[in-house]
Amino acid sequence: MCGIVGYLGRQPAAPILFEGLQRLEYRGYDSAGIAVVGTSALRVHKAAGRVGEVAARAPKRLGGKVGIGHTRWATHGEPTDANAHPHVDASGRIAVVHNGIIENASELKATVLAGVAFASETDTEVLAHLIAAQDHDELEDRVRAALLLVEGAYGIAVVDQDQPDRIVVARNGSPVLLAVGEHEMFVASDAAAVIRHTDQVVHLDDRELAVVRAGGYRTFTLDAVPTTKAPTRTPIVATAYDKGGHRDHMHKEIHEQPVAVERALGGRLDRRFATAHLGGLRMDPREVLALRRVKVLGCGSAFYAGLAGALQIETLARIPADAEAASEFRYRNPIIEPDTLYVAVSQSGETFDTLAAVQEIKRKGGTVIGVVNTPGSTIARECGAGIFLHAGPEVSVTSTKTFTSTGVAFALLALQLGRTRDLGPADGGRIIAALDALPAQIQQVLDAEAEVAAVAERLAGAESAFFIGRVRGHHVALEAAQKLKEISYVHAEAYPGAELKHGPLALVSPAVPTVAVVPDDELWEKNLSTIAEIRARKGPVIVVTDSSAPVDGADAVLRVPRTAPELAPLLLGIPLQLLAYHCALQLGRDIDQPRNLAKSVTVE
Ligand code: G6P
Repeated sequence: MCGIVGYLGRQPAAPILFEGLQRLEYRGYDSAGIAVVGTSALRVHKAAGRVGEVAARAPKRLGGKVGIGHTRWATHGEPTDANAHPHVDASGRIAVVHNGIIENASELKATVLAGVAFASETDTEVLAHLIAAQDHDELEDRVRAALLLVEGAYGIAVVDQDQPDRIVVARNGSPVLLAVGEHEMFVASDAAAVIRHTDQVVHLDDRELAVVRAGGYRTFTLDAVPTTKAPTRTPIVATAYDKGGHRDHMHKEIHEQPVAVERALGGRLDRRFATAHLGGLRMDPREVLALRRVKVLGCGSAFYAGLAGALQIETLARIPADAEAASEFRYRNPIIEPDTLYVAVSQSGETFDTLAAVQEIKRKGGTVIGVVNTPGSTIARECGAGIFLHAGPEVSVTSTKTFTSTGVAFALLALQLGRTRDLGPADGGRIIAALDALPAQIQQVLDAEAEVAAVAERLAGAESAFFIGRVRGHHVALEAAQKLKEISYVHAEAYPGAELKHGPLALVSPAVPTVAVVPDDELWEKNLSTIAEIRARKGPVIVVTDSSAPVDGADAVLRVPRTAPELAPLLLGIPLQLLAYHCALQLGRDIDQPRNLAKSVTVE
């Protein structure tokens, strides 16, 4: 979603800002811009469109060694040049970039800013005028005073032509970090923007501000209480954001899955007791025994991964478990139970709806842990305990390696909870053996990519497709349909297989293929009957299975290796990622940055 970068040092700011914005493109955006403090005036250059196009059209005289930049994903107001950030006050002296939403923007416009002429429809412009209206000498004091009037979530960076030696940043609900270089400083909403320059970062907390100068920084709270923050080394390496020889990030990330799974498992298997050891869980065995329920929350692919996780927990630990879209959860005044373990799933750790669910649970006294990929992220910090995926940065908007790693994290969680309760050591050992074999098996599936690419042709020509699966296959179907929609724009819907005959079968025809996820389990025969029903209506069928048995009536069969039945969904999902990928490729789509979508959705 929206991204912030800022620079202050000895080099011309504009090229560094544009390069930083390019690193943030993966988050999804529709306009971009920068503001540079020049020798005589603050210059702003911004427009709707790609960073590369905006940079190419930038005037040559965009000189200055201090500046801020932004990629905007439209929320308040359309993606136009005028609505692009940075926004300036009426005098054109103060420029602001902002991630988040100012909830009382209309009220501020009607009261303290009555009579001010606005150049855009954004809530951010309110901040620029509000900061300018404060009666203080120092920019940091103006910003602080303005923020005391503001309700909502923000990460902001502010420059002032009259105080060209500083950038002021603030955070409340939307991440901001400082990055410390040699006689130069950077600010950003995401380490990706600055990691090429330095790995020394300082994460701001909510309700915290910083005034950043070339020689250093000072942090303090909204109440003007000084805070002490030393830089730490971010574990992210700059090459993680490269395509590494692949055509795009999604392809790279699909192929990183064997390594990602190894990392998720690293040091977490306790072979002696045939269990898992998750150091970040912070639950003692008594607490595990007292659990009566597990509730998983997440959005998008994280929700579907959560459905898989809940099933694993129910199967292996025999604790009632379910998953729910985090975006719905808090609006039905959820009953928070003391003996329920709530699990928030998020790749980015910044998804607003998931964060809001976590806060609602905590507010009502519930116990919530995170399954998160991004250390230092808001959800990871808010939860305080949980499981990191260690999958490395995921750049493509669509989730692939983190979806699979989330499944592995849940398998470990289910194993640890199960072995503390009723799961016997033989079953524990069986799951461990299966987990050990998983990276090589995923590699085997990836090695058959050409076969999947050939099958993808059948979907690329379709207007619509069904994905079906039952129990273990259902969330695999949901995620696969989502993937196809997201990146190829082919309409797809997922159903529990047996539900097809209760409505959707009306749409099955030779023009509407069905992808059936068919694990080799007790529902095998029933799945074959559903396939026969589809074939009777002349619907083409593509089957994904871990069985080696013939599948009557299937037009194509994609086979994956056998693993423990509880882990089968992890392997069945991989060819379907490749299927969506190759379908999108054949249709010439922008795979890493699908239209209208953002990598991390930091607004409601
Ligand atoms: C966005 C992305 C999805 C992702 C979802 C949740 O909608 O486009 O791919 O699954 O957010 O993201 P999270 O970072 O919380 O896993």
